[in-house]
Parts: sequence; C-alpha cells; structure tokens
Amino acid sequence: MINDQINQLRKTKNAVILAHFYQRPEVQEIADFVGDSLQLSEQAAATGADIIVFAGVHFMAETAKILSPQKKVLLPDLNAGCSLAESCHPADFKAFIEQHPGHTVISYVNTSAEIKALTDICCTSSNVLKIINSLPKDEKIIFAPDRNLGNYIKSITGRPDMLVWDGACHVHEAFSVEKLVELKKQHPEAKTLAHPECKKPVLLLADFIGSTAALLRFTKEDTAQKYIVVTEPGVIFQMQKESPHKAFLSLPGITAPASALADDCGACNDCHFMKLTTVEKIYQTLKDEQPEIFVAEAIRKKAEKSILRMLELSK
Ligand code: 13P
Ligand code: SF4
Repeated sequence: MINDQINQLRKTKNAVILAHFYQRPEVQEIADFVGDSLQLSEQAAATGADIIVFAGVHFMAETAKILSPQKKVLLPDLNAGCSLAESCHPADFKAFIEQHPGHTVISYVNTSAEIKALTDICCTSSNVLKIINSLPKDEKIIFAPDRNLGNYIKSITGRPDMLVWDGACHVHEAFSVEKLVELKKQHPEAKTLAHPECKKPVLLLADFIGSTAALLRFTKEDTAQKYIVVTEPGVIFQMQKESPHKAFLSLPGITAPASALADDCGACNDCHFMKLTTVEKIYQTLKDEQPEIFVAEAIRKKAEKSILRMLELSK
C-alpha cells in the first residue's frame, strides 16, 4: 500500500509533508500538516524535519526553502506554478518600484523569490489587514500582485495612497457572477463565502469574505447549514470533514463531498496547478529526494527579510 511506503520513508528520512487546503483530498489525508499559505509558512519555519515535501505550488516550496535553507525542500511536480505569481515579473516590478519611490512594498506570498527580494513586507490573505493596519495611515504603499485582494483591502481600510499591481489568479477570477446569482436563488438559505482574490462583483454578493483558513473557521463556528463556497473547491474537503452535517456548494454547482471534485471535474474551478500533486508523486519524490527547490543565496537573504517581517507582524 502506497500510504504505508510513504509512512516508512518519512520516518526513516525524518521528512514532513506539508499540504495546502487546495490539494486533492487523498493528499490532504496523507499530509502531516494541512493549512493555508500563512500556516504553511509558519510550519516550514518551525519544523524540525530534515526534508520538507511541499504538496502545494512552487512559490510555497520556495518560501519554505527561503526560511529553512539548511533543509531539503522537495516539490513533487515542478510544473505546479501559479498564475498569480506569474502575473508579476521581477524586471517589470523593479521598474514599477523605481517609478514610485518612497513607497513601502507589500507583496502577497504568491510571488517568486525575486519579487519577495524586492519587497519590504510579505503578506497572505490571512494577515494582510493586520500588516496594512500596522503602517501609519498616510504611508505610501505598493501592493502586489493581486488586484482583487489589493482593491478590496484598499476599500475597507480607506487608504489614500495604495498603488495596486494589476495581477490576478485565474481560478478566483473565473467565478461567474451570473452563476452565483442563480445558485443563491436556488439555495436562499445558503450563506455565500468568498476568498478576497475574487472579483469585486462576486465579493459584493458574499456574506463572509476571508482567507482559506478564515472561511474554514467560519463554517465551523457559524450556525447556517448550507454554504456556497466561492474559492478553490479543495477546501470543501476540510469543511465537510469539520462539519459533516452541513452542505457545501461549489460554483458552478458541484456539491460536496469533495472526493468527487478531485478528478475530471470539467467546468469546476479547480486550480490545476494545485491538483498536479498526487499521492504517487509524493511517494516518488520522497524516494528519489527530487525535484529539489533551490534559491540563490543573495536572493534568499533579501526575500527572507520580507517573510520574517510578515511572520513577526502576524504574531
Ligand atoms: P490562502 O492560502 O492565503 O488563502 O491563499 C489562497 C491561494 O490562492 C493559495 O494559492
Ligand atoms: Fe495560484 Fe490561484 Fe492556484 Fe492559488 S489558486 S496557486 S493563487 S493559481
């Protein structure tokens, strides 16, 4: 059984498997820790393991390597990229910063190590508000790369001087307002939960907006029995696990349990980068100790500063 082989390997090699909430259910099940971007970076910084297998995407594994350079960080499929990270190229971003001197640069962790090296403070959707609010109200800010999250934060904080980079995540941008309105009509008793990477018209229809971990927490603590979940549907696996008696609907209308969502979900909103990781690939990666993630030391040192500032400020 492949899970037993993975268990054996991770024990003998002192390895840990970290998985994002958007991973396939069976990958979440085999992981030592499942979390959102912030929780995963905290785990990567704190783990005593010699090897970290990242069941997530490239920027997450890179963040782990930046924080733990002495550890071997493995990514089961090097094609697991991120459209949001891709929407911010270092040369363009450097030029943008130079065009706007005197700004504090805040970047979402969904960026390459090069972008983090150009950043003053990193953030995730879990701590962005705390980090922005830690700065004086009149501080000039450059926020990158997600325009939806940036504009949402700008609108709720009323910051006058916040320049927002024009990047986006193809998964969260793809949610259709029309389909959401239709689903809300069909299920008037359901509460709508949305990730702030979604477009403004979608966010305006939401009862609660939050990071992946915040959405999960909300479904555990709230009294409603049905939710429309407007984010990557992988998180429904944990929502259903934590609240088995509740119902979760994912646009365009696929219902939990999430095990049905992992494969061949056609028009659903899976992040195909996240779904590249399989249990078989995790086994192979642990066995071969590759593909390994490397970050050039000069970049790593600069990038580390912006991530450590984030971790410090989100305590
Ligand atoms: P969080 O894990 O911060 O909610 O971000 C969602 C995401 O898009 C991760 O790639
Ligand atoms: Fe990137 Fe979007 Fe996939 Fe998250 S869901 S990894 S932001 S493409």
